[in-house]
Amino acid sequence: MVKIAVFASGNGSNFEHIVRAIENGSLCYTQCVLLVVDHEDALAIERAKRLHIPWLYVNPKAFANKAAYETLIHEKLREYGVELIVLAGYMRYIGEVLLTHYPNRIINLHPAYLPNFPGAHSIQDAYEAKAEFTGVTVHYVDEGVDSGEIIHQEKIIIDPAWSLAELEAHVHALEYDLFYRVIQMVVKQIEEEKQ
Ligand code: GAR
Repeated sequence: MVKIAVFASGNGSNFEHIVRAIENGSLCYTQCVLLVVDHEDALAIERAKRLHIPWLYVNPKAFANKAAYETLIHEKLREYGVELIVLAGYMRYIGEVLLTHYPNRIINLHPAYLPNFPGAHSIQDAYEAKAEFTGVTVHYVDEGVDSGEIIHQEKIIIDPAWSLAELEAHVHALEYDLFYRVIQMVVKQIEEEKQ
């Protein structure tokens, strides 16, 4: 069994899909032991309460720097025995403290076909660029911005008739379908390494 913590900043729909996939047996050998949020009013917290997943809100502004903020998070992750950090809509860069303690053990969901459209507004950026395609990428997190090794990605061909909302709906549908399968691959690798 691999213990994961999901990090989110807002809505948390991907967090909920991960937990549901664990509950219904689509995502095996995985236990979601903690949700970490950096916003007090994140809807993800309400989802965690409903799903009976422990959650932790840490206010980044209450710390002198990112290292102090991440040191507290790391202590909590250790208490919960977290082996893999899953970023699902966590809109903050990961710093040296977490990268050092979780080498190749932090993965991020990105709503575009990287290296195209990195950053915080990728769906809108792809839409406004009138790109032929976009997609969804899951990658390991390194010190760069959306630059770590790609684990898996899939394309969406953009129909020029789509509205931005329609494109968003397609991207999110692909995220829900893809993310738990990629987490499963990574979890299996971790299980193999432990044996
Ligand atoms: C998702 O589309 C995720 O790919 C994106 O935030 C959304 C979170 O939705 N992440 C990024 O843009 C990271 N750069 P959710 O809170 O409903 O899961």
